[in-house]
Amino acid sequence: MKILIKNIQQLLQVREESVTWIAGKDMKQLPAIDNAWLLIENDLISDFGSMDSLLEIEADEVIDATGKVVLPTWCDSHTHLVYAGNREQEFVNRINGMSYHEIAENGGGIINSAKKLQATTEEDLYNQSIDRLKEVMQMGTGAIEIKSGYGLTPEAEMKMLRVAKKLGEDFPVTVKTTFLGAHAVPTEFKGNKAGYIDLIVNEMLPKIASEKLATYVDVFCEEGYFSVADTERILSEAKKYNLIPKIHVNQFTILGGIALGVKYDALSVDHLEVLDQNDIETLQGSKTMPVALPSCSYFLSIPYTPGRELIDAGLPLALATDYNPGSTPSGNMNFVVATACIKMKLTPEEAINAATLNGAYAMGLEKTHGSITRGKKASVMITKEIPSYGYIPYSFGSNLIETVIINGEKV
Ligand code: NIG
Ligand code: FE
Repeated sequence: MKILIKNIQQLLQVREESVTWIAGKDMKQLPAIDNAWLLIENDLISDFGSMDSLLEIEADEVIDATGKVVLPTWCDSHTHLVYAGNREQEFVNRINGMSYHEIAENGGGIINSAKKLQATTEEDLYNQSIDRLKEVMQMGTGAIEIKSGYGLTPEAEMKMLRVAKKLGEDFPVTVKTTFLGAHAVPTEFKGNKAGYIDLIVNEMLPKIASEKLATYVDVFCEEGYFSVADTERILSEAKKYNLIPKIHVNQFTILGGIALGVKYDALSVDHLEVLDQNDIETLQGSKTMPVALPSCSYFLSIPYTPGRELIDAGLPLALATDYNPGSTPSGNMNFVVATACIKMKLTPEEAINAATLNGAYAMGLEKTHGSITRGKKASVMITKEIPSYGYIPYSFGSNLIETVIINGEKV
């Protein structure tokens, strides 16, 4: 199957050679070809160039992209897309003055989602998740990371991960899975956090590893959840099973989780709404990607990750949605990109780099996703007719994505 896209107004994120990540000043560069063509063969990008170089090509389908922008699909490296039900009532409680912490202390929050998920069959959980996945694919997400963490029992955590894996098998989108058993201490272990960590270490980790249900391990390292010492115990045990860390740190409190992540070669450290100079220096020279989740800041009205400072310090930055029922009930990467520009002062070029190539790195997909490079996965999206790519963040709230092709399949 060959698809030729021609007369592309701007073909974005064109990289002749595959790059690992983009950091610092380089993030301002978004290589593009004006008036371009792109050829897809089966599930791969086979060739591209400017229209004056286009020779006769026999294609099964020709798409005319006059006036439109073509770019790689979004790489959303941090989501909790598999969950049961919703927490709409907590949203109203917050409007009426309760804080996110107060809601959690009163049996809401992650524990509330865990109760719902434990009572939901695997089939129902899969069906609820399909609706969300289809929606984000339509909005341009072509690769996604999905965490467990609303099960909090061995069986329910495994149920979540099986559902996440099945989504990746049944849909063209590339799915990477993360075990987040240490998301909250379940009610049955109230006052006995050490007992729950023992359960994670002695039962959950070995089972999840032996069934190959996850590539990554995550911990919610935060006051009232898991301390740096708890996190270290889990990361060191997970290492025995070759699970790579991607951790929730510095959402509300600076505890030293970033240094721990770097020590354990975390692929990413995510959230970072609060950050100090020490954290920035720790990240410099590491292989750990800082990941900002601006829709979470928007929804909870908490500070935005200082993305401008991170980039100005020469660091890379990735953007992701954090799609989950409590802090971010939205999987819209277009909104994330716009909000990063509006609230974090990223330029459109920086935000698009952060949401494509750097997002790919943050889920170990930089060799196959995130750029228009020959031999990479044919996961690209075509906008409506727009003046230029800056229009994507500028017209925040509009859906400008018209056609999405994931792994060579139109969705
Ligand atoms: O990334 N911060 C921890 N976990 C999720 C939200 C958890 C919830 O409220 O359900 C997050 O924001
Ligand atoms: Fe999260």
